[in-house]
Amino acid sequence: MEKPAVPIDDYRMPRHIAIVMDGNGRWAKKRFLPRTAGHRAGVAAVRKVIECCLKRRIEALTLFAFSSENWRRPPQEVSLLMELFLTTLERETEKLNENGVRLRVIGDRAAFAPVLQEKISAAERLTSENSQLNLTIAANYGGRWDILQAARVLAERVAQGDLCPEDISTGVFESELALADLPEPDLFIRTGGEQRISNFLLWQLAYTELYFSPALWPDFDDQALELALNDYASRQRRFGYTSEQVEDLVSENACPKTGESR
Ligand code: FPP
Repeated sequence: MEKPAVPIDDYRMPRHIAIVMDGNGRWAKKRFLPRTAGHRAGVAAVRKVIECCLKRRIEALTLFAFSSENWRRPPQEVSLLMELFLTTLERETEKLNENGVRLRVIGDRAAFAPVLQEKISAAERLTSENSQLNLTIAANYGGRWDILQAARVLAERVAQGDLCPEDISTGVFESELALADLPEPDLFIRTGGEQRISNFLLWQLAYTELYFSPALWPDFDDQALELALNDYASRQRRFGYTSEQVEDLVSENACPKTGESR
């Protein structure tokens, strides 16, 4: 894998940003438009934020596009979201590939129409060697589902005599979770003013900095991202250390997350 252009030891810059894109419905309502118009505008905002992350050499961007609970929405809205997912893949995959974006989808995709499942797999195959930006779309995803499916895989391995229960460490457990090969998100952003995690990456967000933006998702632009990044840069991440210990680690050029020298 190619080295990112921004040094990854610049700890004031997140390597991985995870976003709950909220507020499409309210954006549309304010304009007397149907909710579906908000979702269409939401796709344009997705394009924008990908460009911003490429420009800033962010390593990974994970977007919550459809939760396992979103099936509860009116059937027309669910159909529109599925259609948008399909058409966006058709229209954007080539461009993502040209820009060096590696696209992956996490979540239980078995519930999707076969044509959508095929498009997802084709886009993942096409972009699998890219390394400018790891773009992950969480679709029919839930943090609890993620943890459960990892537990099932490990239980199966124990039942087969392949793994001892006492060997199930944090690392072994994490290796079965979605996003296993990416650094944990450094920065979580939720737009739309609500302050909830909503069953997003429950395990992976354990030490993530949380940021809540009042902007409705379709309005989330470069400037709004800049505000989030500045806020992140002003924070001291302690990972269980005291503030003084972190200052010492940083002055010794060691990583506050692992304590290792850089
Ligand atoms: C939440 O806003 C948004 C969603 C449930 C869907 C997000 C989908 C997109 C941004 C477009 C599709 C994305 C891709 C990657 C193709 P909401 O409807 O809950 O807004 P509200 O809280 O204002 O009602």
